[in-house]
Amino acid sequence: MSESPVLLVTCQEWAEGEPGHAALDTALAARGLESRWVLWDDLSVDWGAAQVVAVRSAWDYSTRLGEFLGWATGVGPALLNGADVFRWNTDKSYLIDLARAGLPVVPTVAADDVMAVRAAAKQFGTAVLKPRVGAGGRGVEVVEGGRGWLPSADSHQGPWVVQPLIDTVREHGETSVFVIAGRPVSQVDKVPGPGEIRVQQQYGGHSRSVELSDEAALLAAQAIATTVDLIGAEIVYGRVDMMWYDDGLVVCEIELTEPGLYLDVMPLNAGPFADAILARF
Ligand SMILES: Nc1ncnc2c1ncn2[C@@H]1O[C@H](COP(=O)(O)OP(=O)(O)O)[C@@H](O)[C@H]1O
Ligand SMILES: [Mg+2]
Repeated sequence: MSESPVLLVTCQEWAEGEPGHAALDTALAARGLESRWVLWDDLSVDWGAAQVVAVRSAWDYSTRLGEFLGWATGVGPALLNGADVFRWNTDKSYLIDLARAGLPVVPTVAADDVMAVRAAAKQFGTAVLKPRVGAGGRGVEVVEGGRGWLPSADSHQGPWVVQPLIDTVREHGETSVFVIAGRPVSQVDKVPGPGEIRVQQQYGGHSRSVELSDEAALLAAQAIATTVDLIGAEIVYGRVDMMWYDDGLVVCEIELTEPGLYLDVMPLNAGPFADAILARF
């Protein structure tokens, strides 16, 4: 079968494409690029025949990480960002690497067992515990003090990262900047619903497009540049999530694997992403 030159990668649950995908489809077509949404685990796809493979909404990877990274490695150089970036970025302990490199990030401790969780949570007072490999807010748990903490049957069973609970999230949420081809292009503010700390829609959170702020754009560009230095790979796209802590912004997550482009609230993100794809031809 002759393959589309651009493959946009998704998962079964989002088989049609990420939310608002029509904006990206239109932007690619307007640049004369033929594209197709495909499932990363579809064995019938001829990955080697595509010029560009872009992971978009492969949001089921976190429970199948080994398989996902194996697939990414097999795709080879057509894959934007690529398997090495994904391997680093899908384990939240990368935040520790970034802190060591001097970037302002939410204080983060890696915890492999229950005693390490307790020790870290004690140090932070009110702590947030989350899977080292996780997405979409799944497995996020607030731990008070850590004394006697044990994972419940519903808890993630580790390994984890532990952070102080950043209280500003309740009122101000997170702000995210998309960095495409090294350039900050847009910003979205995300706030949680009442009584929640998670900003994701499935927990009652809301997102809205805002004007790009100098402070957020600067930190986001710095976060991507620091990562490029650290891992020595090209980064074509990324989303940098930040929170307010100690009167300034700090990085809470860098999404270099499957950052949703928020095309439903921000269809204009499609243009720079399509330009970055066009630049590979
Ligand atoms: N240290 C923290 N303090 C306050 N809220 C947090 C903290 N860590 C995570 N959260 C909340 O939980 C959500 C999910 O955590 P996050 O680290 O973004 O993981 P992922 O999005 O990969 O599941 C965040 O978007 C934020 O709303
Ligand atoms: Mg997140």
